[in-house]
Amino acid sequence: MKILVTGAAGYIGSVVTELLIGEGHDIVGLDDLSGGHRGAVHPAARFVELNLLDGDGLKALFAAEKFDAVVHLAAKALIDESVRNPGIFFQVNITGGINLLEAMIANDVKRIVFSSTAATYGQPEQIPIVEDAPKNPVNSYGESKLAFERIMAWYRRSYGLCHVSLRYFNAAGATEERGEWHVPETHLIPIVFEAALGEREAMKLFGTDWETRDGTCVRDYVHVVDIAGAHILALNQIDTLGARAYNLGHGSGYSNLEVIKAVRKVTGREVKVIPTDRRPGDPATLIASSDLIRSELGWSPKYPDLETIIDTAWRWRQKHPRGYAK
Ligand SMILES: NC(=O)c1ccc[n+]([C@@H]2O[C@H](COP(=O)([O-])OP(=O)(O)OC[C@H]3O[C@@H](n4cnc5c(N)ncnc54)[C@H](O)[C@@H]3O)[C@@H](O)[C@H]2O)c1
Repeated sequence: MKILVTGAAGYIGSVVTELLIGEGHDIVGLDDLSGGHRGAVHPAARFVELNLLDGDGLKALFAAEKFDAVVHLAAKALIDESVRNPGIFFQVNITGGINLLEAMIANDVKRIVFSSTAATYGQPEQIPIVEDAPKNPVNSYGESKLAFERIMAWYRRSYGLCHVSLRYFNAAGATEERGEWHVPETHLIPIVFEAALGEREAMKLFGTDWETRDGTCVRDYVHVVDIAGAHILALNQIDTLGARAYNLGHGSGYSNLEVIKAVRKVTGREVKVIPTDRRPGDPATLIASSDLIRSELGWSPKYPDLETIIDTAWRWRQKHPRGYAK
């Protein structure tokens, strides 16, 4: 298939691109490089630097290329920023997404796999979280992703769009060539690496009095290659799936302290931790039920345990100490 991958210069998008190319697909990678890195884009993908808010640019791209499908990962995705500046999240994640859908429909492209998130659920009432659990986002990031899921359903009614939303829990890990490099970094595992490497003096642990087994937050970590694999499964079956949403998590969780312990073990380095207050809005535990994606798509993660996931990320980090900087 000829596939447009938006957000191809980002962490997950670069790995999705790598795996799709490995499957023999023809990839055009789109990104505005606001958060991604040109060097992360697989050399076999054609790269287009374009902002999703440039609707005319998107229409011209779709008119020039005949895409079979779109994998839509480009987004504003920093939760802290979404609390401070909700407008830009609605602009990029909703208006930008609508620009993409309009360009697709105008050129008869009717397959999209969308990067959604556990943040669509907000504070979960039950763990593990199933797909039809209540959705009450607690930040504009989750709200914008949920809104776009719903918007796609309207495009199905009007135009027969096939859409699969993958609600990722916590992405982690790396391939040999592509890993997580955000500036600023807000994700736990790379932050613990920074503390282990002495690049930050210590890492803040937000809350040690949560209702969890050791008092720290519990999250469900999925290897980025297993996330990419779910996109391939979804694309292969999208015409028969029609409209679906799947959680993408392991169905088991690790606490922040367990992550720190695993990083110490994998790196052989000390990590200085400063316990601090809870962050408002953080759920204590986020664990996916992944039964649906396992049974319907046949998804089966290759990286089942945290230490292996961290090991891949650490190897990438050591090989690329300056990330994608030349
Ligand atoms: N990392 C996670 O754990 C996680 C969890 C749940 C969902 N997600 C979702 O997965 C997707 C990828 O996440 P990531 O961690 O790789 O993030 P990322 O920031 O590394 O990648 C997002 C990419 O989108 C690009 N982008 C942002 N605004 C754009 C615009 N207006 N036009 C064109 N490109 C634009 C950025 O430059 C960046 O390269 C996002 O949609 C995110 O919401 C990620």
